[in-house]
Amino acid sequence: MIDFSLGDEQKALQQLARDFAQSEIAPVALQYDKEPAFPGEIIKKAHQAGLMNLTCPREYGGQGLGLLDAALITEELNAGCSAIAGMIGINSLACGPILVAGTEEQKRRFLIPLNESGKTASFGLTEREAGSDAGSLKTRARREGDHYVISGQKCFITNGSFASLYTIFATLDPEKGTRGISAFVVARETPGVSIGKVEDKMGQRSLNAAEVNLDDVAVPVENRLGAEGEGFKIAMKTLDEGRINIAATAVGIARAAFEAAVQYAKQRRQFGKPVGTFQALNFMLADMAAAVDAARLLTWYAASKADQEQPVTREAAQAKYFAADVAMRVTTDAVQIHGGYGYTKEYPVEKYMRDAKLTQIYEGTNQINRLVAGGALMR
Ligand code: CAA
Repeated sequence: MIDFSLGDEQKALQQLARDFAQSEIAPVALQYDKEPAFPGEIIKKAHQAGLMNLTCPREYGGQGLGLLDAALITEELNAGCSAIAGMIGINSLACGPILVAGTEEQKRRFLIPLNESGKTASFGLTEREAGSDAGSLKTRARREGDHYVISGQKCFITNGSFASLYTIFATLDPEKGTRGISAFVVARETPGVSIGKVEDKMGQRSLNAAEVNLDDVAVPVENRLGAEGEGFKIAMKTLDEGRINIAATAVGIARAAFEAAVQYAKQRRQFGKPVGTFQALNFMLADMAAAVDAARLLTWYAASKADQEQPVTREAAQAKYFAADVAMRVTTDAVQIHGGYGYTKEYPVEKYMRDAKLTQIYEGTNQINRLVAGGALMR
């Protein structure tokens, strides 16, 4: 028999994250949505509470948790506010390449100071003309003695404005396609690194998304991760785990919207009865509950497989697109159940709907994730 119950330690982690989300994140979520800002104080408290750098091993200053444990925490934080939770969680993606391909020395040199200080990092893959087609990126790296000199522009970089270091993907030889790409760690203070346009987004508004300009940035050779030309695979392996995180994010948003809808449907009365007792809405709520549960189970399944060190390219992609589609549907239905009030800022559901949309787009659009899953099925 499959046991879906959580252990005592997992329940404690879940409760810790739930309490943090409800006391530190949810009460300010609308304010951060209205006036996007860096949630520095909240990130600091999350760091102190052990809710950051979840899957990074303890010897490098992280929490040393598995992906399933991290998914429990991520769901709770995102039920509070996905923009703030995203800023708390960004190091997992940003540091993924260091864990995937870094040497022992690199892991110690980059991860320990970052994790111990509570600072944040960013993952720099996307460019204006290289979004879904990440392999066509144009940022160039050229070797000059004991340095690489990197030039180019990254965009939509989550936390780009505030990162203390970046994992940057650049090509040494565009002729080689994905096999020409290498991965580098670039410190924010390196001359030539600057921040460009910051996106003004529909949802997850405090999740900073910025252009990062690299203008003849000299990076020591010992900051290259893996061998020359391995960068694309390092990015893809990082995204395999990152997509589980996005699935948990989507479950968190969907659950928050579902809970708000249930509460409203019990309390709002029309024709002399709570609106949730009318079959039209009652069936919607039942479908929403089933969808959230299904998305969570797919997320847990992918996370558990990753924890057993099994390949999860397909499972992570499926959990990501399924959960993101669920989040979009459930949040839209939550607005519908609230009627006219749902369309106003008096209730949180319109924010959940705007926030959910991003989960269908980042870390690979849902179409790209279907392509990844479908491709795995044909191999
Ligand atoms: N693990 C290991 N290796 C992998 C891999 C994986 N999951 N996926 C692909 N590879 C390898 C392939 O085996 C192939 O290797 P060889 O050169 O040895 O043959 C190589 O990588 C190239 O693979 P493809 O031919 O499949 O590459 P492609 O150019 O067709 O692209 C893609 C594949 C899946 C579409 C990829 O470009 C992709 O994932 N695109 C989406 C990018 C993305 O998700 N961006 C998100 C940015 S970060 C973000 O949004 C987050 C944020 O800020 C919060």
